[in-house]
Amino acid sequence: MRKVSKHRITKNRPRLSGKVCVITGGARGIGATSARLFASEGALVAIVDIKDTLGRSVASGIVQRGGRAIYVHCDVTHSADVAAMVRAVVARFGRIDVLFNNAGTAIVGDVVQLSEEDWDRTFAINVKSMFLCSKHVVPIMRKQGGGSIINMGSESGLIGLPMHPAYCSSKGAVVNLTRSMAIGHAVDRIRVNCLCPGTIPTPLYQEFMAALPNKLEVESFLKKEHPLGLGSEVDIAQAALYLASDESKYMTGAPLIVDGGYTAK
Ligand SMILES: NC(=O)c1ccc[n+]([C@@H]2O[C@H](COP(=O)([O-])OP(=O)(O)OC[C@H]3O[C@@H](n4cnc5c(N)ncnc54)[C@H](O)[C@@H]3O)[C@@H](O)[C@H]2O)c1
Repeated sequence: MRKVSKHRITKNRPRLSGKVCVITGGARGIGATSARLFASEGALVAIVDIKDTLGRSVASGIVQRGGRAIYVHCDVTHSADVAAMVRAVVARFGRIDVLFNNAGTAIVGDVVQLSEEDWDRTFAINVKSMFLCSKHVVPIMRKQGGGSIINMGSESGLIGLPMHPAYCSSKGAVVNLTRSMAIGHAVDRIRVNCLCPGTIPTPLYQEFMAALPNKLEVESFLKKEHPLGLGSEVDIAQAALYLASDESKYMTGAPLIVDGGYTAK
């Protein structure tokens, strides 16, 4: 049997020591929790968002606790914004090791109820943003000899849900975008994986639920549908941390499902 060499298991070393991590949608929710966790594991974090007050406050909270973080305003659906954001991160930290394409949105409505603008906006934020950020970050990772890209999917990208055609199809696209990128960039040692969370009470979830006339009914249904109940932002941030770290160095093109058993049924 092959021996596991001792030096591979390094205890107490921060899991993202010195890695520069860009987290889109980092001003709140899963992105903000991931930013704090990544920083606590030694990462230099760039929080990217359009919610400037919240984003700055996440970055300053990290710095106050002795971590390293910056906030960069960027609408990830605009190519010029993304190019400027990537330049700003490299100017400040010198490299990019991890791109967590986390920014996202959700909208309720069947295909008759949704407007064309709703559809285009959902795909711009949930899918096009990943194309744009990757377009500008991959050349940097390629020059550096590798990196890790994490695309935020969802349980809704693996199964169909009524009243969510735009969200489900955008997250389904993320799963296959991930596979295509993973195959294409393995030669560059750039790993591309996709994180598929279950239902997590975040600000997005709260806004989404507030818009429903039968909020309490839907909430109790969702709790029952997830065998382990609803998850937390930390549950998802921990999975993102694994994908960002070298612990997942043999993993690419894969959906990592963290959904309390929802899609196992
Ligand atoms: N909360 C859940 O139940 C759940 C489940 C599965 C997947 N997800 C996915 O996780 C990700 C984060 O979700 P969350 O629940 O933390 O949401 P959230 O709304 O709390 O956070 C999303 C962040 O993305 C930012 N954002 C949106 N559009 C942007 C743009 N154009 N440019 C820059 N930033 C932008 C928002 O300002 C916000 O800060 C999303 O991709 C979401 O689809 C969430």
